[in-house]
Amino acid sequence: MTALRVRKNASLRGRNTFGVEARAARLIEVRTDDALRKALTREDVRHGPLLVLGEGSNILFAGDFDATVLCIAMAQVAIVDNGVTSVQVRAEAGADWDALVRWTLEHGLEGLENLALIPGTVGAAPIQNIGAYGVEVGEFIASVEAFDRDTGTLRTLDAAACGFAYRDSLFKREPLRWIVTAVTFNLPRRHTLRVDYSGVRDELAAMQVERPTASDVANAVTRLRQRKLPDPRMIGNAGSFFKNPLVDTEVAVALKAKHPALPSFATADPALNKLSAAWLIEACGWKGWHQPQSASGDAGVSAQHALVLVNYGSATGAQLLDLAQRIMASVQQQFSLNLEPEPRIVGAS
Ligand code: FAD
Ligand code: EPU
Repeated sequence: MTALRVRKNASLRGRNTFGVEARAARLIEVRTDDALRKALTREDVRHGPLLVLGEGSNILFAGDFDATVLCIAMAQVAIVDNGVTSVQVRAEAGADWDALVRWTLEHGLEGLENLALIPGTVGAAPIQNIGAYGVEVGEFIASVEAFDRDTGTLRTLDAAACGFAYRDSLFKREPLRWIVTAVTFNLPRRHTLRVDYSGVRDELAAMQVERPTASDVANAVTRLRQRKLPDPRMIGNAGSFFKNPLVDTEVAVALKAKHPALPSFATADPALNKLSAAWLIEACGWKGWHQPQSASGDAGVSAQHALVLVNYGSATGAQLLDLAQRIMASVQQQFSLNLEPEPRIVGAS
């Protein structure tokens, strides 16, 4: 296999978990550090529109991408510092996220267990600061190595410089600027397991685990996720299509007074509450929505989870985007709240 491969007019259907068709003007795949270095000297990689693509599990191709798509395959994982209080693990961008979580657990390292089974690559994990079951990856990131297209240099950003927030980071805010090449994690030697997120304790009890290890927590989260979320190998989706809205506490209190069942969660900022987007969408009647005879075709909403838009078969990206916009309009009309899409939307006219 060649270390640097360039293809023109490449199909992206097999490279996004919605399984929608879209084409890239050029697709560049790099398999070695040398090939990456070479790619980074190319005019189309240094300047102009560029899309770095991992497993395509947080992206909606609403149309073709008329420029270059870059895929990084390097996937080495290694312990780079065996400290007294923590261990640092460096993983290259192309490594599979869930495989990294399992690797850390097999090496007796804790911290990432609540993030088991999240699809995607290591390189994408810092982009939206992936999170699940009470943990966000930014808490365990020591630094991110990234090529800065603005300055043409390879940089190492510490966690503070990455600007992590709920489903957000510097990289997500500046999508054309950064190419993440590797991430170094800081995993504490003494770690308190987090089992407070709704459902985790019950799942451990169902597994008959009384004193959970980090691997038990990963297995409990894996079981919960398999039950709650549709599997993209069976039905195309990108996980949650919208972020949970963060609203002023007064707004949350007023909405709760009108809709007592609406789940609302405290955040680190006492002035802000997080509302359940799934509940809002379900309350608008969208859960399980699929009208194949309509203009939406096979674009629909999962019957398993209201926050997950799905491709029931032959939906196009444009149909999925149109459905997303209709869902946003109905939540705005019924609750006066703006939903914000979570995945990156590419190729929309
Ligand atoms: P892609 O979809 O390929 O890319 C996503 C974004 O990151 C794009 O903007 C892309 O340009 C950018 N990007 C990717 N790699 C790089 C790189 N090396 N350098 C610069 N930019 C890059 N997310 C959560 O946070 N929590 C969850 O619980 C969760 N559950 C999910 C469940 C399912 C069933 C699915 C399908 C998705 C879920 N997601 C979840 C979303 C998704 O798994 C994550 O966002 C994941 O990190 C995306 O990885 P990817 O490699 O597929 O990225
Ligand atoms: N709910 C509904 N209807 C549904 C599903 C859920 O009303 O169809 C309600 C539930 O009653 C529950 C609440 O929504 O009270 C929260 O549900 P859940 O625990 O499934 O979490 P979520 O807020 O919907 C978030 C993340 C997920 C992450 C889970 C677990 C966002 C946008 N989504 O979902 O991340 O896996 O928590 O931590 O923050 C993703 O980002 O792609 C993703 C899947």
